[in-house]
Amino acid sequence: MSTTRTSVHGQWSSRLAFILAATGSAVGLGNIWKFPYITGENGGGAFVLVYLVCIGLIGIPIMMAEVLIGRRGRQSPINTMMTLAKEEKLSKVWALLGWSGVLAGVLILSYYSVIAGWAMSYIFRAGSGAFVGVTAEGVSSIFSALISDPERLLAWHTLFMVMTLIVVARGVRSGLELAVRYLIPLLFVLLFLLVGYAYTTGHFGEALEFLFKPDFSKLSAESVLIAMGHAFFTLSLGMGAIMVYGSYLPANVSIARTSIIIAVLDTLVALLAGMAIFPIVFANGLEPGSGPGLIFETLPIAFGHMSFGTLFGVLFFLLLSFAAWTSAISLIEPAVAWLVENRNMTRVQSTIWCGVVVWLVGLGSVFSFNLWSEFRPLGMFPVFADKNFFDVLDFITSNVMLPLGGLLIAVFAAWRLSRSTSFDELKMGDGLAYPLWRFLVRYITPIAVLIVFLDALGILPDF
Ligand code: PFF
Repeated sequence: MSTTRTSVHGQWSSRLAFILAATGSAVGLGNIWKFPYITGENGGGAFVLVYLVCIGLIGIPIMMAEVLIGRRGRQSPINTMMTLAKEEKLSKVWALLGWSGVLAGVLILSYYSVIAGWAMSYIFRAGSGAFVGVTAEGVSSIFSALISDPERLLAWHTLFMVMTLIVVARGVRSGLELAVRYLIPLLFVLLFLLVGYAYTTGHFGEALEFLFKPDFSKLSAESVLIAMGHAFFTLSLGMGAIMVYGSYLPANVSIARTSIIIAVLDTLVALLAGMAIFPIVFANGLEPGSGPGLIFETLPIAFGHMSFGTLFGVLFFLLLSFAAWTSAISLIEPAVAWLVENRNMTRVQSTIWCGVVVWLVGLGSVFSFNLWSEFRPLGMFPVFADKNFFDVLDFITSNVMLPLGGLLIAVFAAWRLSRSTSFDELKMGDGLAYPLWRFLVRYITPIAVLIVFLDALGILPDF
């Protein structure tokens, strides 16, 4: 039986609006900035394969679980978990899952905003003609000049946060829906164009081989953990962002179909980004494993040498900033929704409070690339020995908090919620689809996440 609950925050106008918003959340820096550089750092093909398997077997089923829980509860993730736990006569401790999601969102947004700031500053770099005819060394020194300047990074971080807060304060429906409707298709067009340029470098085959020919000798337990963590990160799972978007979803929309569409679009963007970037990397003798600067040190070379490169460069970094923007909104929405529900604040007040906290934590990431570049906050642990503040936040959120959050969401949806609740909310009919989903979230997801974790922690014996 469906519930007649409604959300105090409103509802998406249609199925398309939800797909666009959730795709806006999923498609972001994770696809275009992070996927290529972590693929480069983890050796290519085998890593990509593990990532794709994680998207299919873990990501899509968990996305369905998050949307169904969100739509059932129709509140912020904390209150949704609390309400459903009460209705199903479960422990209140489940609300902690909502809390860890709020924390993960705040931590991720704090560094996400700093990187989005790089993208925004590159709109102007590209527009000023700085990339015309540039060499690989030239691009690299433009990038170093940016990240070594804390004041500039701080200014861009602040601007990006303000832009995010303005949209969030206005509420989800006006602005966001409209923006993604045009931006996502345009992003695809530009990515195809860049792949077209990459094709002319003469190193396209090498890049395809790097991306799609698995060499399992390059895969470590930590790489598998990173691939799985990234599947969560890129689909915005494990922290309540998709859950809160699901809470605004009209009752009659098919959760399975929409989740598959979102995951496919998201994966396409990541693969296109890889196909645009690696040919340029190889053509210019660059290092695929050079880290977070990868796209900022490769794509400008393409823009510097193609016709209308200045125009396309501006458009590309503009779209990247927009993609980051539509993701940032979903990172902060769970916290804002909770403050509105529980602290009797207006949406504007809640947004400002959350924004201030995120901005402050973000200072740590701003300084990670300059003043604090040698600071190793958790240096006493071997995994964190060479990680600065930014690296630590990224590792803990993507590779620990999101997969653990996802694991608990799977356990909740498939082991604790009654079968009738999930069956009723997913509306998949009597065929095989529902049992397949339930099997995946009951067994495959939790076991896979656990094995990857224990293995990365060195608790499992070597195979
Ligand atoms: N999915 C976004 C990206 O790939 O850039 C990042 C993100 C957004 C992660 C929202 C988590 C989240 F809840």
